[in-house]
Amino acid sequence: MTGRDAETGRVISGAREEFGSRLQQAVADGSLVRLTLGGPQGGDATLRQLSVRPVRLRAGPRLAFVWRHETRDVTKNHPPDEALAQLGELIGHRFATAHLFTTSATVHLEFRPNRPPQLHVGPPTESAQPLSTGQSHDRDKARPIPAQTGWLSALGVTTAEGKVRAGMEAKFRQINRFVELLAPLLGEAPLPAEGPLGLVDMGCGKGYLTFAAHDCLRRMTGRPVQVRGVEARPELVALSNRAAHESGLEGLEFVAGNIADTPLEHTHILVALHACDTATDDALARGVAAEAALLLVAPCCHKEVRPQLVPPPALAEALRHGIFRERQAEFVTDALRAALLEWAGYTTNVMEFISPEHTGKNLLITAVKRTRPFDREAAARRVRELAALYGVRRQALASRLGFDLAAP
Ligand SMILES: C[S@@+](CC[C@H](N)C(=O)[O-])C[C@H]1O[C@@H](n2cnc3c(N)ncnc32)[C@H](O)[C@@H]1O
Repeated sequence: MTGRDAETGRVISGAREEFGSRLQQAVADGSLVRLTLGGPQGGDATLRQLSVRPVRLRAGPRLAFVWRHETRDVTKNHPPDEALAQLGELIGHRFATAHLFTTSATVHLEFRPNRPPQLHVGPPTESAQPLSTGQSHDRDKARPIPAQTGWLSALGVTTAEGKVRAGMEAKFRQINRFVELLAPLLGEAPLPAEGPLGLVDMGCGKGYLTFAAHDCLRRMTGRPVQVRGVEARPELVALSNRAAHESGLEGLEFVAGNIADTPLEHTHILVALHACDTATDDALARGVAAEAALLLVAPCCHKEVRPQLVPPPALAEALRHGIFRERQAEFVTDALRAALLEWAGYTTNVMEFISPEHTGKNLLITAVKRTRPFDREAAARRVRELAALYGVRRQALASRLGFDLAAP
């Protein structure tokens, strides 16, 4: 297959080969910043992503492979030649998407069934930094959003000199974790092939993660983007718009509005992070109705379901403990949300996010719209069995989607 390099205009023959040769070159000349493989195929169902970055150990240069699983990360370091050989076997076989970040380009390779692989070459991330000589593995973490990124300082996460401000370390880590989770999903979701990509962040607060989504979307796709943060508090909207303007970011705006009725035309990705209680359900239902290709929500409190729970009798003894009752309410609510999204035509994943606060509420539910037929009745049965097991009769997402939990 042939394509054209958007950056240099030269003709590319063989997307996989082109990607491989760019990767090899970047490893050889030290311009590699990071490689992310997503869309795992078959094998270990808990595997989510492989992230690769250069590190310098006492034994010499290595590529650190971080295998991200649902609940744990496994890191292994490999000499460059061995690492490249392994990656050649993984890309397009074990993983359906690959994102390469170098100091001169961002390269995205995607495999879809019955279609030739697609290669997109875009400009480098404005702040991509290779691992400079002498930096140790521990000190230099190649983050997708490095501390020198301009908008981080406009938001007060970093100083003008690019140092993370005291007290903002957790926020900085959360921003980066969010981008690590979002980036591979952009290759998996059935986003439109052309035209601007629309993302709405519902209940965006001070907009930290809206800026992160805008940065990630623009860099990963190289396409025009329209990112909108929707927030009930106008004073936060004004601050975020000022920071976007100061940072010279196009396609990023903040509006005062309500999750339940904000307009959603041209929304391909919907995000709602830590929106209170059933505001998460409002956001999800709006995303489903808008036929968004990708949904990401981090649920917050779980008040609605808790008083309804009549757990199986075998759990009565364990549920004497308040913390288990609390966790059970979270589990049942979020498991129902994921099951309802499956019924609504999405494939879902639940994974660990990072909360900047000291709280256990740190889940991210992701949902990618299906493009193939699926057994909707079986999905409906699974929702009703789960609701019946815990005696749940009412749940906001079910109501918003018109799903009757009690139907026979
Ligand atoms: C806990 S903050 C989370 C902010 C941001 N999403 C994050 O994760 O960093 C929740 C935000 O959602 C806003 N919010 C809650 N309910 C809302 C609604 N129905 N419509 C719009 N904004 C809402 C609140 O004002 C608050 O700023």
